[in-house]
Formats: sequence, structure tokens, C-alpha cells
Amino acid sequence: TTVEWEAESYDMGGHDTYMHKEIHEQADAVDRALRGRIDDRFSTVHLGGLNLDARDARAVRRVKILGCGTSYHAGQIGAQMIEELARIPADAEPASEFRYRNPVVDPDTLYIAVSQSGETYDVLAAVQELKRKGARVLGLVNVVGSAIARETDGGIYVHAGPEVCVVSTKCFTNMVVSFGLLALHLGRTRDLSVADGKRIIEGLRKLPGQIEEILANEAQIEELAKEYADAKSMMFIGRVRGYPVAREASLKLKEVSYIHAEAYPASELKHGPLALIEPAMPTVAIVPDDELLEKNRAALEEIKARSGRILAVAHQEQEKADHTIVVPKNEDELDSILMGIPLQLFAYYTAKAMGRDIDKPRNLAKSVTVE
Ligand code: G6P
Repeated sequence: TTVEWEAESYDMGGHDTYMHKEIHEQADAVDRALRGRIDDRFSTVHLGGLNLDARDARAVRRVKILGCGTSYHAGQIGAQMIEELARIPADAEPASEFRYRNPVVDPDTLYIAVSQSGETYDVLAAVQELKRKGARVLGLVNVVGSAIARETDGGIYVHAGPEVCVVSTKCFTNMVVSFGLLALHLGRTRDLSVADGKRIIEGLRKLPGQIEEILANEAQIEELAKEYADAKSMMFIGRVRGYPVAREASLKLKEVSYIHAEAYPASELKHGPLALIEPAMPTVAIVPDDELLEKNRAALEEIKARSGRILAVAHQEQEKADHTIVVPKNEDELDSILMGIPLQLFAYYTAKAMGRDIDKPRNLAKSVTVE
């Protein structure tokens, strides 16, 4: 009910849906997430509410990230960033799975609860169980003063601003950016060099402009969405950094268009899902220009050899793909922040072509505050 009230009170600003409006707010939202946090002198960031001094940060042996839905996917990207930049073992798990399996709670692990609303019951319950067992839990939350923000020992507000559409877009992006900040901070208390810190900061600063570039390509994405909207099912693939991007993009498409979609690591195709590939089963492939480019190209070839249609999201045109959405290149560690953005528009335009109720997909709620 709160969400309905909010939906009526926010100005649509000429957009036909909140989803479209919120996708277009992302450059500003990211700018807000960065504002006042970058410390150029030490090539690091200041996160005021973290409550983790340098000694505490150094003592962290492992990071466990908990969330649901889109926030869980943001956590998967966050875990990769923390491993890459801080070299601390990190992983993400759905909060509900975690809390029902009587987890081993370890005092040297830093737990991070991720939530847009800060009210999701499964996440809140996981936080409470962790606190009860004496763990240190941080929040990565959008809604200021929400239950999860209050129950955690400290954290990072993602500053995406109010998000009304049931499916999350700008908040996801700001969560991932916030994880980038946290990874940089943890990295700089350890072995990440000043030069690498600087490189990441420069990459972060480029994000708002690059998001504008991606959104300026909207007309191409709208055409592509119309072209693929006849699919009954779609495959999303990626590798390492690209895999959680593929997962989130497939979730977005499912949620708003009701087209069945599944995400697989590109390397796992040959262990099963390749059997599904045929012209009626298009594949969306995340193909960043990183050390895995050739491997990803080989996967595209395997799909082409089975007459599969391919839509690539890449940093350069992909010869084997039927269509490529070209996105601007950032630092390898930060590319995941950008590569999913065109696929938010792809999901939006697919749903629009199918006449779906975009802001309120059937059977879903913006926040699930019950078990
Ligand atoms: C619901 C929403 C999702 C969201 C998830 C977690 O299922 O429909 O879009 O990702 O809850 O919500 P949270 O507020 O905790 O991020």
C-alpha cells in the first residue's frame, strides 16, 4: 500500500512508466552515490556510516553477501568486485537460503545485507539471526532509516532515490556502484596500489557520462526488442564478470515481459543447455572486452553452428552475433555496472511491445515483508 501511495505522489516527468523514468535517472543516481565519497589524496573512498575502522577492515577474512531477487544479483557482482580489488574471498547467497540452512557463523566474516526497501522479511530475518550469533553485519540499503538499515551495525546508503516500479533498475545500478566503492575501500586498506586505486576512481567518475551514452542508444534497443519479442524463451549467457549481469538481465525480462528466460555461464552451455539452441531460442550474450573475449567468441560460434540467433552486448561489434549493442568500455573491474543497462531497456521495450503492465507485473510486489 505504501508503494501505491508513493506511485501517485511522484511526478512521471513525461515518461510513460516509472520503469522508463527510473532507467533514465541512472546517471544522476550514480552521481549521487559517488558525491562526497571520493578521496583523491589517498586514492580511496570515505564511507561515513560504515563503522569499520582500518583495523576492523584488515581483520575481515571473508565476506558473505545476502539479498533477494535483484539485490542478490547486485551482491553477486559485489562479491566479485571485493575479491578482485581487495582479494578477500567473497560470495553472495539468497538471504532465505542462508537463514534456513542453519549457517555456520564466523566471527572473521563480514556479512552484508543488500536491500532496496530495507524491509524484505527474509533479509531482515537473516540479519537478526546473524546479530543473535554475534556477527558483524553491514547494510547496503536504499531506503534511509528502514528496518534493515536500523538493525545493522553500519553500512552504505546507495542513494538511488525513490524507486516506484516493482522491478528494480536504478537501485540495482547504485547497489553495484556502492559495492565498487566498498571494494575500493577494502582494497586500499590492503594490497590495492595507489595507482590501481586511482584507476578505479577514474573509472567510477566516468560512469554517469557512459550511462548517458548507453541511454542515447535507446532507439536501436527498441527496434531489437520488437524483433525478439516473438520468442517464447531466451537464453542469457556470460562468463565470470558477465554471468551475474546475464542473470539479472534474464530476471528483468522474465519479470516485466513474462517471457521465459534462463541464465547460464557461457562455459556450461556444452553441459546441457546447448540442446535447447535452435532458431526459436535466441541467446543474449554478455561479451566484455576483457581476458575472456576469445572464450566468449567461441561460445558464440557454438551457438551459431546450431542456427541460434544471438544478440550480443559488447564493447565492439561481434561478427558471430546477429545484432550487437555496443556499450562504452570502462575498467575491467567496473564493466559489469554498465553492461546490464541496455538490457533493462530491452526488457522494458519487450514488455511494452507485448502490452504488459510494466510498473506492476502480475504476481509480484515491490517489497515482500512477509515470509
Ligand atoms: C521483490 C521485488 C524485487 C526485489 C526483491 C528484493 O521480490 O519484486 O524487485 O529485488 O523483492 O527487494 P529489496 O527491497 O530487499 O531489494
